[in-house]
Amino acid sequence: KTPDSHVPRDPRLIRLTGVHPFNVEAPLSDLYNEGFLTSPDLFYVRNHGHVPEVRDEDIPDWEFSVEGLVDKPLRITLKDLIAEYEQKTYPITLVCAGNRRKEQNVVRKTKGFSWGAAGVSTALWTGVVLGDVLRKACPRRAAKYVCMEGADKLPNGYYGTSVKLNWAMDPNRGMMLAHKMNGEMLRPDHGKPLRVVIPGQIGGRSVKWLKKLILAEAPSDNWYHIYDNRVLPTMVSPEESANKPEWWTDERYAIYDLSTNSAIAYPAHEEQLCTVGAPENYRVKGYAYGGGGRRVTSVEISIDKGKTWRLSNIEYAEDKYREAPDQELYGGKLDMWWREASFCWCFWHLDIPVNELKGANDIIVRGMDESMNLQPRDMYWSVLGMMNNPWFRVAVHHEG
Ligand code: MTE
Repeated sequence: KTPDSHVPRDPRLIRLTGVHPFNVEAPLSDLYNEGFLTSPDLFYVRNHGHVPEVRDEDIPDWEFSVEGLVDKPLRITLKDLIAEYEQKTYPITLVCAGNRRKEQNVVRKTKGFSWGAAGVSTALWTGVVLGDVLRKACPRRAAKYVCMEGADKLPNGYYGTSVKLNWAMDPNRGMMLAHKMNGEMLRPDHGKPLRVVIPGQIGGRSVKWLKKLILAEAPSDNWYHIYDNRVLPTMVSPEESANKPEWWTDERYAIYDLSTNSAIAYPAHEEQLCTVGAPENYRVKGYAYGGGGRRVTSVEISIDKGKTWRLSNIEYAEDKYREAPDQELYGGKLDMWWREASFCWCFWHLDIPVNELKGANDIIVRGMDESMNLQPRDMYWSVLGMMNNPWFRVAVHHEG
């Protein structure tokens, strides 16, 4: 029996850290087959500790505070949040900063556990705009950061982190407090009954089981803000980093916007490609995402180790929602106020003639965003193994 025995979970999810805490990803091909919206059953989970148990009858009375550098501190229940604020629904992709960390651990062991490439998922989130709530509390001029804290008590205190206040107040960044995903109440693993959703940034900023929003002059001093979700310079080793708090407290190394990334779902890593008597083309398929609301503008495939590249097709499924603004969806109004920005993954595919694949040892993908942030050829190893985004490669196994 673990502290999470009250939490229902899908047996298809792959456990990455033993029995507890629960950290899982779906098999990449299953995740891909779900399509644009991931069902909550297969949505990746990153928990630092136990999942707070909240009975359904207690959900309306779930309370969180807005405090710190504000003129009007607030205590808001979920029932009031739903009754008093405009409800919105947006498609947003969440990505764990550790997505693809396994490749770093193969090169040199990091302090983090091995994620494959399925530490990413997309849902339609319903809730309120974070800035609407903060504005009601009348932030003081000195307030520069929003610190957030969850209800999960961990060995080093409650889970917490922060983002800049001016980001939270900017409606174009789409930061929200969500109580539903894909039209259902949040599942326990995803923050039931209330969580923060920070689009375009690493998942670690999207605090689950939200209890406190604290406006402050400085970034969060929470242990998990300081010792997690950072990319320290590559020369810092696990041993050295343990004795050097100054590496960790340097806010320059805290990561926010996601890096451009992509992965190949088909062929899968161990898939045998049948190139004898096969149809004319093999369809290579996968996902890509950009950071900070930047759209992925090109996805390229190479079957000759990066000497030459072919341009892949890209499908931006979120555009379907853009074309129908102001519709009611899952109890929230879908208004794609970020019409210019993109906070969702996209899917790409490319048909490659089988006779050309016959000579290939591997298939490589790389993506580029609208600011020309191109996935690098080389890995940037760092002690926590975060933001790993070099060219993604699958070996081709020929059958027969
Ligand atoms: N919030 C709390 N309270 N506790 C946590 O352990 N993990 C963070 C973030 N919010 C975490 C949290 C991390 S590192 C990630 S990547 C996302 O939640 C994962 O969200 P998900 O489990 O819903 O996919």
